[in-house]
Amino acid sequence: MDTQEILDVALRLAKQSEVPADTTINVPSKDVKRALIGIDVDPADLLLAKEKGYDLVIAHHPTGGSAILNFPKVLAKHGDILQRHDVPIQAASSAVRELQEEREPRAHAENYDHLPSVARMIGIGLMCIHNPCDEIGRRVMDETLRSRLSAKPRVQDAVAVLETIPEFRAAKTRIVVRMGKPENPLGKWAVHHGAGTNGGVPVARAAFDHGIDTVFYIHIDAGALRRLWELYGRDGPKNLVVTGHLASDSIGINVLVRELRARGLGIDTYSGIIDV
Ligand SMILES: [Fe+2]
Ligand SMILES: [Fe+2]
Repeated sequence: MDTQEILDVALRLAKQSEVPADTTINVPSKDVKRALIGIDVDPADLLLAKEKGYDLVIAHHPTGGSAILNFPKVLAKHGDILQRHDVPIQAASSAVRELQEEREPRAHAENYDHLPSVARMIGIGLMCIHNPCDEIGRRVMDETLRSRLSAKPRVQDAVAVLETIPEFRAAKTRIVVRMGKPENPLGKWAVHHGAGTNGGVPVARAAFDHGIDTVFYIHIDAGALRRLWELYGRDGPKNLVVTGHLASDSIGINVLVRELRARGLGIDTYSGIIDV
């Protein structure tokens, strides 16, 4: 298989017709037999992979080139998720705009060629598959909740349902209720994953102010969390459930890993993937 065929497999699994902005082939590889896949990849890892005989390194998080420069575009997917949960288009769009404005200066400033340049010098394939894996993971979480939640569930019931997913069981982190209470009614809920990164304050606000009672993020930073506590009350009726970064990323990555292995590729995982 070549790198383009690997990317096509990921897109098909994610039911996507175009390559998301945070996903790219940095250094193509024509005849991949052994690939190493990890959540974060740094230059030393490329050297290690070459030494161990891999043809290609696949990162989950953006590695460089267009995946870094165009990253803010993928945040627009938060708007799609909000709208699918009945948030009005104006509120969804302004949340996306705010997120993109926060992120654009960083994308513009980042060293977009560090990792790709090292891969070229070493002579090893390099690509990142970010949103397709996250979209697969979002769907698994969403469908698991949808099919297994009982009538009138509480927040803790949703946590228990998610914990049936093997990656959450195997992870060294637990699913945490960061705002609200485990015994609160779950109410209307939405999994906000598969859109670049967490939706921070803007997406959570758009959700909570337009009828969503429980938001699921895979991670959130302390500053955004504190702001949400100020807005909605740390133990109030609105709930923020944080599922855990590596476990949540691993769900979608593992679907791809299994498919590539089934197609005969030698795939090894490292760097945070919970290979269940
Ligand atoms: Fe991810
Ligand atoms: Fe991630």
